[in-house]
Amino acid sequence: MQRILVAYYSQTGHTRQIAEAITADCGADIEQIEDVNSRAGMLGYLRSGWQAFTKRAAHIRPVQASPGQYDLIAIGTPVWMMNLSSPVRTYIAEQGTEFKKVAFFCTAGSAGGEGVFKQMADLCGKQPVATLIVTEGEIKSGSFGEKVRAFQRSIDQELGEPHAGTHAPASP
Ligand SMILES: Cc1cc2nc3c(=O)[nH]c(=O)nc-3n(C[C@H](O)[C@H](O)[C@H](O)COP(=O)(O)O)c2cc1C
Repeated sequence: MQRILVAYYSQTGHTRQIAEAITADCGADIEQIEDVNSRAGMLGYLRSGWQAFTKRAAHIRPVQASPGQYDLIAIGTPVWMMNLSSPVRTYIAEQGTEFKKVAFFCTAGSAGGEGVFKQMADLCGKQPVATLIVTEGEIKSGSFGEKVRAFQRSIDQELGEPHAGTHAPASP
C-alpha cells in the first residue's frame, strides 16, 4: 500500500475539517502545520492578509512527519487575500525538496483557489495529481462529501490503489 501524508494549516477550522474528511477512510497520516505566533483578533487578520499578499514567510513549529517517506503529500491551505497562506508557503519552502507526488486542497470564502494552486505548484516545482476547492458555504451546509470523494479517487488512481468507492463513504 502506498503511503499518503495530508499536511494542512487551518486558522479557524475549515481546512482542518476537510483534511480530516480526506484522511477519514484512507489510512493517510495527518500533519497540522502550526504557527509560532497567534493570529487572533483584527491585528492577526491584518497581519495574515499582509503576509500572504506580500508572499512573506511565517514562523511555524517544527513538523513531525518527514514528507520524503510518503509516496504522495496532499497539502491544504486557506485562501488569504487571493494568495497562499504564509504558514503553508513556509512549509513548502522548508520541506518541498522531499515531496514526491503532490495534491492540493484549499478552503475559501468564495474565490482565489485556482491562483493559490498555481502558487503551490510553482513553489513545489510539481503539478498536482488532484485539486480540491471547498467554499465556506459548502462547509456550512455540509455538502462537500462528493467533492472530497472525487479528490480521493483521483489520488487513488494516480497511486494505483483501489478507488475511493471501495472505501467507506467520507462524512458528510
Ligand atoms: C487574512 C484572510 C484573508 C482571506 N482572504 C480571502 C480571499 O481572498 N478569498 C476568499 O474567498 N476567502 C478569503 N478568506 C476566507 C478564508 O479563506 C476562509 O474562511 C477559509 O475557509 C479559512 O480557513 P481556515 O478555517 O482553515 O483557517 C480570508 C481569510 C483570512 C483570515
